[in-house]
Amino acid sequence: MKPPVKIALIISGGIAAYKIPELIRRGRERGMDFTCIMTEAASRFVAPLALAAVSGNRVLDDLFSLTDEVEMGHIRLSRESDLVVVAPATADIMARMATGQANDLATAVLLATNRPVLIAPAMNPAMWEHPATQRNVERLRQDGVAFVGPASGDMACGETGSGRMAEPGEVLDAILDQIRRCEGPSGTHPLAARHAIVTSGPTHEAIDPVRYIANHSSGRQGHAIARALADAGARVTLVSGPVTIADPKGVDCRHVVTAREMLEAVETALPADIAICAAAVADWRPQSEERNKLKKDGSAPPSIRMVENPDILARLAGHPTNRPELVIGFAAETERHEEHARAKLTRKGCDWILMNDVGATSGVFGGSHNRVMLLRADGTGETWELMEKSRVAQRLVDAIAARLADGDGL
Ligand code: C5P
Repeated sequence: MKPPVKIALIISGGIAAYKIPELIRRGRERGMDFTCIMTEAASRFVAPLALAAVSGNRVLDDLFSLTDEVEMGHIRLSRESDLVVVAPATADIMARMATGQANDLATAVLLATNRPVLIAPAMNPAMWEHPATQRNVERLRQDGVAFVGPASGDMACGETGSGRMAEPGEVLDAILDQIRRCEGPSGTHPLAARHAIVTSGPTHEAIDPVRYIANHSSGRQGHAIARALADAGARVTLVSGPVTIADPKGVDCRHVVTAREMLEAVETALPADIAICAAAVADWRPQSEERNKLKKDGSAPPSIRMVENPDILARLAGHPTNRPELVIGFAAETERHEEHARAKLTRKGCDWILMNDVGATSGVFGGSHNRVMLLRADGTGETWELMEKSRVAQRLVDAIAARLADGDGL
């Protein structure tokens, strides 16, 4: 018999907490084992004893945390489950998660965990729509937190709108979905024992000691891909140009500045099974970096002589001894998208290209969403609907896992 799926279930203080005993009862029928962790406010909405009875396990809250720290540290508690679920997730706990606070047992577990986290928000519609909450949602998504709900409808507070916690059945489906994402069909991580190299972010090419050539890449898409690959069990080397976002969890991150440094770091990381070049590498760099700052001394503006940078993607795709099994590039296009992307696929010799529309109105650079077309060297392709960059990353990782499992060579 399959062992139960172990869930650390964090319950925060919202009226929707009354649905949790029902969720646990039905979850147990579907092979889940719950350890409940309550915030102080949660115990005003649902009795700890009811949760203990229905889960068959001790309920942990801050009153118990002293003994629990001796018996089972919050670090261990946070890591021995397959998934951490927060349901209901109030605006308050989301804000505390987004800012990395650890001022009670629940948030300490959330900060210490290396397991995937799924949250089911529940709050008044005005609170959900508030820019502060939406900022936190965005931040949490970037951190790799998955969401289920909230749904729209009548609220317990008498208002109508978005903010109802997803129904228990839906939360349970989302839990199983998350578990399946981390496991392959055989119950193993689909990319276990695979090494993936991901490039991400822009490069900076110096003109003089204070000026450089750069671009708008935020690194969000590349970092999300690195994170999704790691979640699928791959060993991931992320080679990142200068970005302001954090290194993803569970990834070996190498920080570089220029295209030449990026190439060197990528070549050092070989061999790999998978290479994904999501970086916006500068095509050209100034031929030489001025030793001193160029002066505006009244003469004509300087002209900068440019030379071509190495093409990292083309080098990987044409590597004589260490070509990764699957080499994937990106094509940022502003017009005649598919035609240009297909030409790039052939020119660079890669296996797949993800084309994204970076036209002035797309909001892709620096934004949270991406509209992507996946084009394969065998002439096939598919268009994905507009989705969050983390979903694009997940979808790509699913496609990679399927392709490597098939071994069909394309
Ligand atoms: O030629 P273009 O820059 O449009 O190609 C984009 C793809 O090539 C991206 O996958 C990018 O990461 C990769 N690339 C690279 N090295 C370069 C230029 C682009 O790896 N010097």
